Amino acid sequence: MSISHQSYTPPKYLQEDEVSQECKDLLSTLPKEKGWAEPHLYNYQGFWYLAWQFQGVLECQKYFQAQDTDILLISSPKCGTTWLKALAFTIINRNSHSISNDHEQKHPLFYNNPHKLVPHLELESHINNPIFEPSSFSSSPSRLFATHLPYISLPKSAKASSCKLVYICRDTKDTFISLWHFMNNLRSNHLGPNSLEEAFEMFCRGVSIFGPFWDHVLDYWKESKERPNKVLFLKYEEMREDPNFHVKRLAEFFGVPFSLEEEGSRVVEKITNLCSFENLSKLVVNKDGKLPSGVENKTFFRGGEVGDWKNYLSPEMVEQLNRLNEEKFRGSRLEL
Ligand code: A3P
Repeated sequence: MSISHQSYTPPKYLQEDEVSQECKDLLSTLPKEKGWAEPHLYNYQGFWYLAWQFQGVLECQKYFQAQDTDILLISSPKCGTTWLKALAFTIINRNSHSISNDHEQKHPLFYNNPHKLVPHLELESHINNPIFEPSSFSSSPSRLFATHLPYISLPKSAKASSCKLVYICRDTKDTFISLWHFMNNLRSNHLGPNSLEEAFEMFCRGVSIFGPFWDHVLDYWKESKERPNKVLFLKYEEMREDPNFHVKRLAEFFGVPFSLEEEGSRVVEKITNLCSFENLSKLVVNKDGKLPSGVENKTFFRGGEVGDWKNYLSPEMVEQLNRLNEEKFRGSRLEL
């Protein structure tokens, strides 16, 4: 049975003092900052991580072997990872998990949060983990994984092999607001929420999980320009605007385009509807369920609005983020 065809149990997150000794030794050598939700963020290869995330990065760099047929879904946190996981899983597995009878609610998405259907590379243990066994995927057209890793830190095989990378990015201001809410959900009650101002100051300095946000986006943008057959670069807002177009684009990029017959029976629209915010956010599993880490599934479905930043950011904050976008993306022709 293929892992892409079934749910699996995502791992629990480790506390900072529970990471391996090797990891602790390395962490002690890295630049460190106060974290948004956990005590510290550590800088490795130019990007910021929680201690357990760093352990995951090391393991994945050491052990993950990409295969030519693999697909990696990549994002900076809060840019639409959950949605992309749902879409890619549904597109890739549409022959084994038909959506034509979705009124029967048999599709795995009705019972599983998308994070239970697509494993996240750096959150997994890579040692003796059956989800990485090639045999686990024997009946699947492609192995499907997700990651928040920046391009510089991707395992070598992911860059050197012909595996496909799909990157989703999002408007800087909406990403920040989404991240601020999400990290406040992860903070222990006794700490109370992080203030918007404090989080904003850190985000602008690049100090946020898998940040600096701008470097993360820009590196994949450049790769997508140099190797368009390898890296597909998507924008959350454009997908919201025309999801059907992007579902087709994804299927083509994955090498499994929709047949005329499928188009005729409106499979594209059915996938879009199944994976829509409106549908997924109202499902019991996403309203009441939790990941084993304790994170509630509903935290991945806050509102999904484009332009929600307008409800939070002061004119000065907007100006600062606009200025940073301009500075960081200058000459790249990338606009966020
Ligand atoms: P908001 O916090 O602005 O609501 P990620 O999946 O990378 O953690 O990103 C989470 C953001 O994507 C959240 O944004 C969430 O509401 C939104 N989202 C989740 N599922 C979605 C879907 N099916 N369609 C569109 N947006 C979705």
